[in-house]
Amino acid sequence: MSRSMRIKGPARVEGSLSVPGDKSISHRIAMLASIASGTSRVTGLASSADCKATLDCIRKLGVAVEDNGAELVIHGQGLFGYRPAASLVDLNAGNSGSTIRMLSGLLAAQRFTSRIDGDASLRRRPMGRIVEPLSLMGAQIEATHGKLDGDFPPLTIHGQKLKAIDYASRVASAQVKTCVLLAGLLAEGRTSFSEPALSRNHTELMLKELGASIDIQSSGSVFIEGRHELNPIDYRVPGDISSAAFFIAAATILPGSTLLLNDVNLNPTRTGFLDVLAELGARIERRNVREQHGELVGDLVVSSHQLTTELTTEEGGLILSGAIIPNIIDEIPMLAVVATQVEGRVEVRDAKELRVKESDRIRTVAQGIRALGGEIEEKEDGFSISGPQRLIGGRVNSAGDHRIAMAFSIAGLIADGMTEIEGADCASVSFPEFYKSLAMLTSPDGAVQTLGNR
Ligand code: S3P
Repeated sequence: MSRSMRIKGPARVEGSLSVPGDKSISHRIAMLASIASGTSRVTGLASSADCKATLDCIRKLGVAVEDNGAELVIHGQGLFGYRPAASLVDLNAGNSGSTIRMLSGLLAAQRFTSRIDGDASLRRRPMGRIVEPLSLMGAQIEATHGKLDGDFPPLTIHGQKLKAIDYASRVASAQVKTCVLLAGLLAEGRTSFSEPALSRNHTELMLKELGASIDIQSSGSVFIEGRHELNPIDYRVPGDISSAAFFIAAATILPGSTLLLNDVNLNPTRTGFLDVLAELGARIERRNVREQHGELVGDLVVSSHQLTTELTTEEGGLILSGAIIPNIIDEIPMLAVVATQVEGRVEVRDAKELRVKESDRIRTVAQGIRALGGEIEEKEDGFSISGPQRLIGGRVNSAGDHRIAMAFSIAGLIADGMTEIEGADCASVSFPEFYKSLAMLTSPDGAVQTLGNR
């Protein structure tokens, strides 16, 4: 049974909001604090289902984690200090690709065997990209070969002594990078990692904050010295720009809107969505920008404005491809909805990775746009959308994908009519308060309604 939401457009948003703690940073600080030598205190950690999965795994590995209301206290056990209750530990990553891929880097070097699994969506997500580098380091991992071609969860990881490698990843993925760097931290020797385009760099910045011996080169390549203990830390998690993106989009495309978003992470490897909107003429002001644990954090003031590709230098509209794709990867469903309201054509290329996210996001985005009466040309590695289009509302199935549920809720607010989001609950994977926040900021009252269980 799952809850549906009914969204009645047209509407606008107004007010201020603090979005939940950054999901990527939350996973990382929980994992790194769990292997630091001492007690860390973390405020603002995301309470989402994905981050809960990581905390549950860490607890099962024998690490004490206390939530005293104001902060999370994580009693780090050192690099090799995990002590699960049994010699074979069963871990559940739920829907979270970050949990399974990043934690595997730590599990590969332990003295016990772990079996890590997840939900039906996670079982369809490729793990060969971590099995390959970890195996080169000497790890023993058994993946599952299902109907699909390749390695999938559950993974059985027999902990081994690891050796350092120099690894050039074929995919620009921060989850793969994190997995290799965490394994490298526990391996003997110096590990290096490079990737075809720079993915989010939170792991590198955080390892540096915790005192690891790490060299981050301007090319994006990273070197890490193994067996170097980490210091505990008092860490404050900034707001998640990928969650803020839904509200930034809403305030931009819904006429008459103004929003203030507080304490948002503005790490340049995450702000591609803001850059793309700015290129289309959006009114987004950054205020009070400061550095926090090596990350940039600031407030955003967003007000509505008609977007157009006329300001872009390319002919035939705005083409997003190559190095920017990893930087906007989680925001592409929202960007597709925004594109329906842009004067001109927006095309996304080189984004085949979207097909192996929580859903096949090229397909689910196309289905959603068509369900609301819009038009989109679907391609193998992206899509093309010409606007502005009039959306008339309709029924969208989230396909269990949190970002699809949230992006199409915003689409519902721009549509001239009623939109129903089926399977809306999955928003809690990254943003449990999403509908509450949306209802609070939207007028007229009643534009965002819960339909109850189906
Ligand atoms: C993430 C990296 C990205 C992103 C995911 C979170 C991370 O995945 O899509 O939501 O925190 O490292 P990939 O590494 O598969 O690109």
